[in-house]
Amino acid sequence: MTGVPAERPPPTEPTADPGLLEELAANAVPASTVWLLDGWLVRHTPEWPFERANSVVPLAHHGRTPIDDKLAVVEECYRHAGRPVRYQISPASQPADLDDRLEVAGYERVPGIEVRTGPVARVLETTATGLARTARFHATTDDRWVAAWRGCDDAEGPVRAFGESYAGVLRRIGPPLAAISLELDGRPASVAFGVVERGWVGVLGLLTRADAYGHGAATAVVHAVAAWAHRLGATRLYLQMPVEATRARTLADRWGLEPAYVLHYRVTS
Ligand SMILES: CC(C)(COP(=O)(O)OP(=O)(O)OC[C@H]1O[C@@H](n2cnc3c(N)ncnc32)[C@H](O)[C@@H]1OP(=O)(O)O)[C@@H](O)C(=O)NCCC(=O)NCCS
Repeated sequence: MTGVPAERPPPTEPTADPGLLEELAANAVPASTVWLLDGWLVRHTPEWPFERANSVVPLAHHGRTPIDDKLAVVEECYRHAGRPVRYQISPASQPADLDDRLEVAGYERVPGIEVRTGPVARVLETTATGLARTARFHATTDDRWVAAWRGCDDAEGPVRAFGESYAGVLRRIGPPLAAISLELDGRPASVAFGVVERGWVGVLGLLTRADAYGHGAATAVVHAVAAWAHRLGATRLYLQMPVEATRARTLADRWGLEPAYVLHYRVTS
């Protein structure tokens, strides 16, 4: 039978599914050791300070290994590594009562990360400034990006260690990656990297030098990441920010990113 071909349904926008976003984020900051445990990723990266590379991400519970045995294996794993046991708990964590079990077992609840998402097209509109044209793209293992990160990192304490660690992160990421930096007055002012996978782009490692705050540097860097991801066909953007990062939250509102979910950690006390 001939006739007018059925109209194709519009391509569905990927939804902000926490399970998917937890997978994407695990791929965007890949741990050096990953122990597969019946749907959980037991991650261990002694050389990095990031909680997300040193925690269990309980993506699924297939039931091949009883839950109590899994909890015991995790304890053994981190004991062997000489690290505290840490779980990354999100609405996607499996089994669903895992957080309650850890609470009962005496694990301390530690505030974590808010995940924001939004359409790339909207972010491109809300971040458009002339400054974005000056953003510089770096090859995956480009030490100049890490040098730019160090140049932006005028904080004390653990943040300093992050810059050193990002050199390793960039070398390990599997999906397409763009490392971006931006200068103001001839000095590194803001940095971030983007990772594209399954129609999504994650914006990671976003940092502005403290004395360059408020000049639109981060906004321009996020625009550059979004523009690069758009060229690769990404339609949705996610941004992870510490729950206490009030300035980042204000900016995420301005960029049109909506709260998707909040994750927290459970750590041996
Ligand atoms: C969050 C963070 C990255 C923001 O960096 P930033 O470069 O100051 O951000 P922007 O300048 O792009 O933000 C927009 C601000 O600049 C202003 N601005 C934007 N474009 C501007 C321009 N062309 N000229 C002057 N000001 C401009 C905006 O009005 C806004 O100012 P306000 O917040 O004081 O109202 C920075 O505070 C930071 O590094 N924090 C620590 C790490 C962190 O939290 N990272 C984020 C994790 S997601």
